[in-house]
Amino acid sequence: MSHFIIIEGPDFSGKSTQIDMIDRRELYKDHNVFFTREPGSYLPESEERCEEIREQILFGNNTLIEEANLFAESRYIHTQEIVDILTRYDNAVVISDRYIISSLAYQGYAQGLDKDVVYELNKPSLDLLNEHDITIHCIKFVMPEEEWERRRNLVMISRDLDEIEKKDISKEVYEFFNNDEIFFNWTDGLNMKVYEVNAENNKETVYKEFKNIIDIIREDLLWH
Ligand code: TMP
Repeated sequence: MSHFIIIEGPDFSGKSTQIDMIDRRELYKDHNVFFTREPGSYLPESEERCEEIREQILFGNNTLIEEANLFAESRYIHTQEIVDILTRYDNAVVISDRYIISSLAYQGYAQGLDKDVVYELNKPSLDLLNEHDITIHCIKFVMPEEEWERRRNLVMISRDLDEIEKKDISKEVYEFFNNDEIFFNWTDGLNMKVYEVNAENNKETVYKEFKNIIDIIREDLLWH
C-alpha cells in the first residue's frame, strides 16, 4: 500500500528541518520514498514547470486570485506525478512539504479568499486523488504562540522577504493551524486524516514524535 503524507504548519515551525532530518538519515531505504514540496516540486517530471511557477509566485507581482490560481495550477501538475508514483509502486511514500492546506490557510483564511473558491480552484487535484482513492495524511506542526513568536523574530531579522512574507499574514496563518475550530472548519471538504506534532521541543524530541507518526501511518495502512 502506498501513502501520501503532507506536512503542514505555519512558517517557523521547523517542518523543513524535520523533513531534511528524515531524508538525511535514510530511514526508509527499503521503500520508494519521495520527498517533495509546494510551491514547486522535487519530483523529476514536474520539477521544472512547478519550480518556475514557484518563482512566479514568490517573486512576481500577483493579485490574490492570480496567486491562488498559480498555486492550484502548479499543484495539479504536481499531483499528477504524485498519483502516478503512488499507483505505480506497491509500497511508495510521497512526503510533501506543504500541499492544499497551505492554500486554505494563506490564500483563504489569512487573506480572505472564499473557501469555496479555494476548493473550486483545487478541484482537479482533489478529484484526481479521489479517483484513485488516495487519502491525504496530514502531519500538522503546532506550538504555543510565545515559542512561535520567539522563532519568528529570530528568523525575520536575518533574511530577505518573498512576496508572501511581505504580506505580513503569518499571525493569521499561525492561528489557522493552532485553532482546531478554524482548522477543521476550513478542511472539512478533504478526504484526510490529521496527526499533530508538538513542534515546540528541541529538534531531536520533535524528530522522535514526527518519525513515530510516519511509522504509525505506514503500519496502519499496511494492515488494510
Ligand atoms: P515555503 O517557505 O514553505 O517554501 O513556502 C513558500 C510560501 O508559500 C510560504 O510562505 C507558504 C506559501 N504558500 C501559500 O501561500 N499557499 C500554498 O498553497 C502553499 C503551498 C504555500
